[in-house]
Formats: sequence, C-alpha cells, structure tokens
Amino acid sequence: MKLCVVGTGYVGLVAGTCFAESGNDVICVDNVAAKIEALRRGAIPIYEPGLAELVARNVAESRLAFTTDLADGVRKSQVIFIAVGTPSGEDGSADLGAVMSVSREIARVMDDYRVIVAKSTVPIGTSARVRAEIAAGTTHPFDVVSNPEFMKEGAAIEDFMKPDRVIIGAASTRAVEIMRQLYEPFVRTGNPILVMDNPSAEMTKYAANALLATRISFMNEIANLCERVGADVDQIRRGIGYDRRIGHHFLFPGVGYGGSCFPKDVKAVIHTAHEHGVKFPLLNAVEDVNEAQKRRLVEKVAAEFGEDLRGRRIAVWGLAFKPRTDDMREAPSITIVEGLLARGAEVAVHDPEALGEARKVFGDRVSYHRLNYEALDGADALLIVTEWNEFRRPDFSRMKHLLRRPMIFDGRNLYEPEVMREHGFAYFPIGRAAVRATA
Ligand SMILES: NC(=O)c1ccc[n+]([C@@H]2O[C@H](COP(=O)([O-])OP(=O)(O)OC[C@H]3O[C@@H](n4cnc5c(N)ncnc54)[C@H](O)[C@@H]3O)[C@@H](O)[C@H]2O)c1
Repeated sequence: MKLCVVGTGYVGLVAGTCFAESGNDVICVDNVAAKIEALRRGAIPIYEPGLAELVARNVAESRLAFTTDLADGVRKSQVIFIAVGTPSGEDGSADLGAVMSVSREIARVMDDYRVIVAKSTVPIGTSARVRAEIAAGTTHPFDVVSNPEFMKEGAAIEDFMKPDRVIIGAASTRAVEIMRQLYEPFVRTGNPILVMDNPSAEMTKYAANALLATRISFMNEIANLCERVGADVDQIRRGIGYDRRIGHHFLFPGVGYGGSCFPKDVKAVIHTAHEHGVKFPLLNAVEDVNEAQKRRLVEKVAAEFGEDLRGRRIAVWGLAFKPRTDDMREAPSITIVEGLLARGAEVAVHDPEALGEARKVFGDRVSYHRLNYEALDGADALLIVTEWNEFRRPDFSRMKHLLRRPMIFDGRNLYEPEVMREHGFAYFPIGRAAVRATA
C-alpha cells in the first residue's frame, strides 16, 4: 500500500518506519525542514532503541522517504495518517490546531478517494470535526478513521510491531477493510483488531492512559502511607499483583508520572468531562497526587539537610521521563532539579540519552556529566530519578569513594534497603523503610 504519515515525531516516525518494514511504500511528512533534512542525511532526531537501523534499511530499500511537501505525500498515497502533536492548551484541552490545519491541507490537494487516519491522541468528536473540515474543502470521496496509538517510548518498535490490540474506529466498511489489510501483518499471533465507532476509539485511548495514570497515583499514595505506618510498598506491590484481577503492571511507586502523554491526556479527559457538565473528581485527584509526588524526593532531601541547600552539591541520575528515551517532556526530573536549584543547591546531572534535551531546559544552571560516576564527585547526595538499567547494579564502593556523604535518595526503588545498609549508605527509597544510620 502507498501511505503518507504526517508528523515525524515519536509516533509518526516509528509508525511510518514500521509500515515500511512490513512492505508498504511510506512518505513521512513534517513541516520542520531541519528534521526532514536530518532524516534524509540518515540522522534520527529522537532516541528510540532500534529505530535508526530500521529507518536506514527501509530508506536504502526505497520504501521510506521524507519530505516537507504534504501535497506530494497526499497525492501519492491511498491512506494518510495524521500523527502531529496535540499538546495541552492553556485550559487543559487538547490543542487541535495542527490536526485541523493538516486536514484542511489534505482536502485541498487530494484528487481521489482517500482514507484519512487520526493517529494522534484526540478528544472525542475530533474525527467528526476532521470529516467536516475535509468535506468543506473537497468533492472527492474519503473516510476518516480513528486509530489511536498505544506504543510506549523506549519500546516503541516492539509495541508497534506486536501490538496488544489495534483499535479501528470507522463508520465505513471500505475503510475498515483497508485498515485490516494494513494491520494484519502485525497481529499474526492472534492479538485482535477491534473495530468500533469513531468516538469509542477516541475514548479508548484516553481511558487507557487515564487508568494507567490512576494506578500510578494510587500506588504513590499507598507508598506514602506505607512510610508512615511502617509497611513496605514493595511487598504490597507483589501481594496485590498476583491477584489476577489486578496484575503486576504499573504498580511501581516513584517520582510521579510525566512524559508527553499521561499529563496531557489526563488533563484532556478532565476538560472533556467539564465541557459536558460531568464531574470527574477521580482524575482531578490523580493529577493532584502526581503534582505532590513530583516534589516528594526533594522534600526528603530537605528533611535531611534542611530547606537551605546552599553549599550543597547534589547529583541526579536520570532525567528522561522514563528509561530508553531522550524525551523530557513533563519529566518529573524538571520539578526535582528546579526544586533543588530553588533551595540553592549546586546540581550535577547525568542521563545516558537525555543530556541534549536537558540543556534546553536547564541551560548553564546545572553541570552535565556523560558518565554517571563523574556526576558523583564531591556530591553530598545522589538522587535517582529515572530507572535506567545501567543504574541497577552500580559499583557501590566506587560511589562511596566519590560521594562526600554516602547518601542516596532513590525515587525508583532500585536497591534493597538491607543491601544498602551493608554497603554503608544512608538510603531513602519510596514507600519503604529508610536506612539512616550508616555502618
Ligand atoms: N509519544 C508517545 O509515546 C505517544 C504514544 C501514543 C500516542 N501519542 C500521540 O501521538 C501524537 C504525536 O505524538 P509525538 O510524541 O509523536 O509528538 P512529537 O511532538 O514527537 O511529533 C509531532 C510531529 O509533528 C510535526 N508537526 C506539527 N505540526 C505539523 C504540521 N502542520 N505539518 C506537518 N508536521 C507537523 C512536528 O514537527 C513533530 O515532528 C500526539 O497526539 C500524542 O499524544 C504519543
């Protein structure tokens, strides 16, 4: 099939590349010329494991091309995916500016039947708006499909190639058939393609993200309660995870959720509910808990060192909102580093992939370290913010030697408190007993 994917970010670039990998001819479009020029040179503007190799192979085999010329992409393609950003507007609603302008442009240049697919996460009713916008600009036949994306950054290729399910929201059997053909190679192990109406497809995506965010906030509250009552959240996580009604996923407490999706999607559901006169107190609480959780680690630091952190040097490991990505959008690390800076601390940061993004956020207000141990030199404490694999089994004696004090505030519960006691660290995890007295 001939496909066009508009928006070459985390979703568009992965989707376009994976569709090319399954044999389709794909044109990826973006309105940022520098991004397209970089892609043409073989440079990948984001970090996503395995993506560079897949892009190179499909470009070399002429199935994948990059352009800023949307009209060319639309004319050459039967199916057009809209995968542009839908950031939060000031009132929390999803900003559909890019989705609607791309829709108008598609209508202007299409010259035959087209399937237009909303891949971006969009509020309920958007497909109807897109349909109206396109109908106003063309006399050619078309269908609008809602096909939300569930990939996780850091495992996006695997998720796209083997999705748990594919959601297709459409009113036309012709469009559904085309979408089925497109996705069948990805669901050969039997995972379902679920066909539903457009609004339900749109709602499914928001419901999934809102529920995952709810689980995170719930576990963070349980963790905070555990600290007060002397229970261990890690035992509770296992204890409830084996209940098949609950399952093990998304039960890890931490520093709060971040990223380009959960915060904005929770806000968008709250906004949609409000617009329709529906109260959704649960999601307001999920957000409030998350905002408070992002401050917890620095509060723990302040509880040990006092509110005034002038003269203290604090090391931070992990800045990306999750491991295996360089994405720092809404990352809890931003609240944490800003909290340390506001209290006067000198901050030394390390992340395996996100230092470039971090520079855009913190400028010259922190020091950047390519090697994790380097950041520890002379620091009064280490804060662990992102659970990169390479932080799981560090050389504790080297760390102890480098740190001015052997003190770790662990926002991801990477280590066992007892082991840390044996290594002679003061250790402050989330929802588990802290180790204060060092050996
Ligand atoms: N990132 C994720 O993990 C993820 C997962 C599922 C769904 N989503 C959803 O997918 C959508 C895209 O997310 P993303 O993370 O890929 O965003 P992104 O910001 O990484 O990418 C969006 C791209 O669209 C381009 N763009 C914007 N306006 C354009 C226009 N008018 N014409 C052409 N290109 C334009 C931007 O330059 C950018 O490259 C969002 O709605 C998001 O909620 C994201």
